[in-house]
Amino acid sequence: MGRWLVLGGTRFLSRAVAAAAVARGHEVVCVARGVSGGVPDGTKLLVADRDVPGALEPLRGEPFDAVVDVARMSLPWVRSALHALAVNAAHWTFISTINVYADSTTPDQGVDATLVVPRTDDTPTEDPEAYGPIKVASENAVRDTVGPRALIVRSGLICGPDDGSDRFGYWPNRFARGGHAVVPADPGQPAQLVDVRDLADWIVRSGEEHVVGTFDGSGPRSTLGAVLDEIADSVGAAGLEQVAVAPEALTAAGVQPWSGPRSLPLWLTGSDVGILARNTAPAAAAGLRCRPVAETAGAALEHERALGPDRPRRAGLTPAEESEILAAHLP
Ligand SMILES: NC(=O)c1ccc[n+]([C@@H]2O[C@H](COP(=O)([O-])OP(=O)(O)OC[C@H]3O[C@@H](n4cnc5c(N)ncnc54)[C@H](OP(=O)(O)O)[C@@H]3O)[C@@H](O)[C@H]2O)c1
Repeated sequence: MGRWLVLGGTRFLSRAVAAAAVARGHEVVCVARGVSGGVPDGTKLLVADRDVPGALEPLRGEPFDAVVDVARMSLPWVRSALHALAVNAAHWTFISTINVYADSTTPDQGVDATLVVPRTDDTPTEDPEAYGPIKVASENAVRDTVGPRALIVRSGLICGPDDGSDRFGYWPNRFARGGHAVVPADPGQPAQLVDVRDLADWIVRSGEEHVVGTFDGSGPRSTLGAVLDEIADSVGAAGLEQVAVAPEALTAAGVQPWSGPRSLPLWLTGSDVGILARNTAPAAAAGLRCRPVAETAGAALEHERALGPDRPRRAGLTPAEESEILAAHLP
């Protein structure tokens, strides 16, 4: 069994990767500040703050069979990890995003589609517009340094237990409450997601098998209507009724697509529909296996219940907001 280094490990995807690696018998070291949560049982946490120059120096040159870096929005983090660890890493996974693509509208594109212009400036930023450009620059740094040993995973919408975004979880939580639930009247809109446990499992197996190259890491293409129906069928309360409200009416009522306050998560407006319609056949051929949406919904609901279903949310409609919209649309 191998020796794995997970740069992260205290939350969501990187934690799931560390858990999957340890479950498959690997020795796993996680590097994080330890403020987002704990690392999975059986792994070791090395406390380090990647914002501090030289944070990874204690690990310099140490041999690892696989390194996984989830650096979200920092080219200096990516560069310094490569600087300290690339020489003795047999395999390197960098977690990127489908936000690297310049065209977010056209469906069925693959990894050779045009990318946004990389942002190589090292100044820290939280500007959401910089997310894709920093990921492109980070991917380039990984390819330049460990290209023949590198797996680059451009993740799509990651869902399931421990998702801190409140996006996918909105729907199982809402449907489990029952009654009239507002949904976008656009059932044919593309939808595509990946369960965090499936993505993590694939990342670990790919490291073991030395899979290299760039992949869009998400599940098969579906539609918003099919995904919502599968969630409703699996966790919806008896008597739940989906009330389809036209996209124009939602927009007029101030409802945002995708995420954030007063939103309907997973709903996309026309110019963005390509982000949930990527060609993920190459990832499937390389071993990414995706469980049914119903299983993801069940796990997401458990997570929602643990957090408290009535808490303030980062995404979705509050019951009061939904009632306001229903009042205007129910006969
Ligand atoms: N969620 C999605 O749908 C989605 C979609 C596409 C791509 N992605 C990508 O998937 C990845 C998600 O990674 P994730 O789920 O593990 O979550 P994350 O929020 O990106 O956190 C990753 C890890 O970084 C650590 N960290 C944060 N600040 C740090 C610092 N200053 N020094 C050292 N470690 C630090 C965190 O631990 P501590 O806070 O404990 O230090 C945590 O373990 C990201 O690359 C993201 O861009 C996500």
